[in-house]
Amino acid sequence: MKIAIASDHGGFEYKAKITEFLTAKGIEFKDFGPASTESVDYPDYAGPVARAVANGEYDRGILICGTGIGMSIAANKVPGIRCALVHDVFTAQVTREHNNSNILALGQRVIGEGLMLLIVKTWLDAEFEGGRHQKRIDKIAQLESCNG
Ligand code: RB5
Repeated sequence: MKIAIASDHGGFEYKAKITEFLTAKGIEFKDFGPASTESVDYPDYAGPVARAVANGEYDRGILICGTGIGMSIAANKVPGIRCALVHDVFTAQVTREHNNSNILALGQRVIGEGLMLLIVKTWLDAEFEGGRHQKRIDKIAQLESCNG
């Protein structure tokens, strides 16, 4: 699995924790930045990650900002992206099983490091169930193509 990851200044430290985790697990990833905690605009980082996942270059993405909200709003503007803002283990699991979420958004100012890493692990391990959920995913895709 190839992961695209990025943050803004508000998520920079958790990005480093997650890339350490991915390295330890032998999971391939690309860090789309930023390279420091200097203030940046989260859409500038959500966009490249979302496009890289939508075009198939990367299998999944992880985006971290202060709340996760800005990143999730921005990523979900890119057709083909189903970005889930997650701050608990239950929804980390179920958003993969039911929504086939392809980007995980997290808020560094919202949850502690231990929970955050467990969410990342849960989300990476969980699989889409397909079946009745596929037609719902298809209906989301229809919303992208015909203005609802
Ligand atoms: C940056 O201060 C903050 O607004 C950003 O990290 C994020 O929380 C936006 O949704």
